[in-house]
Amino acid sequence: KTFKIAVIPGDGIGKEVMPQALRVLEAATTRFDIELELSPIEWASCDYYLAHGQMMPDDWKSRLQGQDALLFGAVGWPATVPDHISLWGSLLKFRREFDQYINLRPVRLFEGVPCPLAGRKPGDIDYLVVRENTEGEYTNLGGVMYAGTEREIVIQESVYSRFGADRVLRFAFELAQARERKHLTVATKSNGIAISMPWWDGRADAVGADYPAITVDKQHIDILSARFVLQPGRFDVVVASNLFGDILSDLGPATTGTIGLAPSANLNPERSFPSLFEPVHGSAPDIYGRNIANPVAMIWSAALMLQFLGAAEAHDAILAAIETVLREGPRTRDLGGDASTTEMGEAIARLVSQA
Ligand code: NAI
Ligand code: MG
Repeated sequence: KTFKIAVIPGDGIGKEVMPQALRVLEAATTRFDIELELSPIEWASCDYYLAHGQMMPDDWKSRLQGQDALLFGAVGWPATVPDHISLWGSLLKFRREFDQYINLRPVRLFEGVPCPLAGRKPGDIDYLVVRENTEGEYTNLGGVMYAGTEREIVIQESVYSRFGADRVLRFAFELAQARERKHLTVATKSNGIAISMPWWDGRADAVGADYPAITVDKQHIDILSARFVLQPGRFDVVVASNLFGDILSDLGPATTGTIGLAPSANLNPERSFPSLFEPVHGSAPDIYGRNIANPVAMIWSAALMLQFLGAAEAHDAILAAIETVLREGPRTRDLGGDASTTEMGEAIARLVSQA
C-alpha cells in the first residue's frame, strides 16, 4: 500500500526541520520497503497569507481529504501576521474539522540530554500524555453579563459528551493495554469541580470495565502536576480533559529537556479524516535562518506518523537512531553541541539506513 502524505512546512524553522524529517523518512521507507506519496503544500503559511489574505485556499479541506496523514512543521510569523490569525486559520482548523480528538504526546528522557529534574536518569521518565482535543473546557458557550457595572459576571461553560469522553478514555485504555506496565493515570478534579469531574471519573470506570488487566490511578490534577516533577516514574499512560491535558502535555516535555525534542500526534483514530503529526514547538523566529534548530521533534513526529500508519518497525528504527545521536552526537546548540540542523538530520538518517 502507498500512503499519501501532505507535507506542510509552514513558517520559520518549520521550513528548516521539515527537510530533515523527509530525509529520515526517505531512509526509513527505503529500508523497510514502504511507499510514501508526498505532496508538498505551500499554503497554511504566513507567506501564503501575505499573498492571498488568508492562510489557506477555500477548498483546503477537499484538497486534503484523500491524504492518509498530514506532516506539519510549525506556523506563525508574528512580525507580519498576528498569531491568532495564523493558528486559527490553519492548524486549529485541521484539528477541529478533521476531528482529531486525540492529542498524543510521548514524554521520554534520553541519555545525553540534561534533565531539568535533579537526579533523573533515562528510564525514570517514559510515559504518554493523551489529551482530549475537541471538547471539555474549551467551548465558546458563555458570555459577560451586566458588563461594565459592579455586578459584572462572566460565565464560560465546560461541555463533555459521553461520546467524546468515552472515545478518548477508550483510546487511552487501549494504549495502556499495549504497554508493558498496563497502568493508566486518569487526571481529575472531582473534589473541586463537583459535577463534571465525578462524571468523568464515572466514564473512566465504565470504559475501564472492559480492561480488567489495567491498573487505574485517578489523581487530582494539582497533585498529578506535582508528581510529574517529583515522581515521574509513577506514570505510564496519562489521560486528561482538554484543559488539563493541555497543561500536562507542556509540563511533561519540559521535564525532559529542550522543546526541540518534543513530538505530538493529533489523531482521528477511525481514519475518517487524516491525522496530523507535528513538533510541539513553534516557528522560532528568533533562530530561523541559521540552520541551528533541533530537528528531533520534527523527525520523531514523522516516526509517530509511520507508527500510526502501521509501520512499527520503521518507527522503532528512527527512535533508536534518535537515541544514539542524542547520546553520541552530533547535537544542536539547544543540547549543548554545535552541530547544524542538517548535520543532526543527516546523522539520524544515516543510522536509520544501516540495517
Ligand atoms: P517557539 O516554540 O517557536 O519558540 C520558543 C523558544 O524555543 C524559542 O527561543 C526558540 O528558539 C526555541 N525553540 C523552539 N523550537 C526549537 C528547536 N527545534 N530547536 C531549538 N530551539 C527551539 O514558540 P514562540 O516563540 O512562543 O512562538 C513563535 C511562533 O510560533 C508564534 O507565531 C507562535 O504562534 C507559533 N507557534 C506555533 C505552534 C505550532 O505551529 N504548533 C506552536 C507554538 C507556537
Ligand atoms: Mg499548549
